[in-house]
Amino acid sequence: MAATGETVEVATSIRYKWRGKITDAELLALTRSHGGSATQGWWDQIQIHSLGWVSARTDEGLLIGFVNVAWDGGDHAFLLDTKTHHEHQHHGVGTELVSVAVRNAKAAGCEWVHVDFEPRLGPFYFDACGFKRTEAGLVHLPTICVSSG
Ligand SMILES: CC(C)(COP(=O)(O)OP(=O)(O)OC[C@H]1O[C@@H](n2cnc3c(N)ncnc32)[C@H](O)[C@@H]1OP(=O)(O)O)[C@@H](O)C(=O)NCCC(=O)NCCS
Repeated sequence: MAATGETVEVATSIRYKWRGKITDAELLALTRSHGGSATQGWWDQIQIHSLGWVSARTDEGLLIGFVNVAWDGGDHAFLLDTKTHHEHQHHGVGTELVSVAVRNAKAAGCEWVHVDFEPRLGPFYFDACGFKRTEAGLVHLPTICVSSG
């Protein structure tokens, strides 16, 4: 037993859940915690379109991690908005969020999980999460000219 005054480090256990309830306010707070910009009402609006999502919570119930899984209704799932609370980064939370998302996409019958990201995140998605490089395409809509009709 610890003597009085002694500091005992208790490792916080993190609970990961597929399709667990998350409020819009919780996602706003999580997004702002890592410096991201968030729009009120965003989560309430889009979650009905998701295959699922993964939450990570502390013992106390604080939301500290999230990833959304969009899909095409068939073989393809898409990871979006992976995020870990800034105070909990670099402790494996992001990797576990992605792993739970991938397992559940497989269980739902998907064959492929896609993700795109800025080059700086290569060590996370390629090395930690195990994604393979692939060809992909992108159009930046504000800067293209589109003819009418
Ligand atoms: C990207 C992010 C989700 C990673 O979450 P995390 O919980 O810190 O991830 P992990 O602890 O599982 O990281 C495992 C490894 O991935 C790599 N990694 C993690 N975050 C990284 C980052 N921001 N940039 C580059 N590599 C990173 C590191 O090699 C890390 O190992 P280390 O901790 O020993 O250095 C987190 O940095 C985040 O929320 N960033 C802001 C939002 C964002 O950019 N999301 C991506 C959207 S595509």
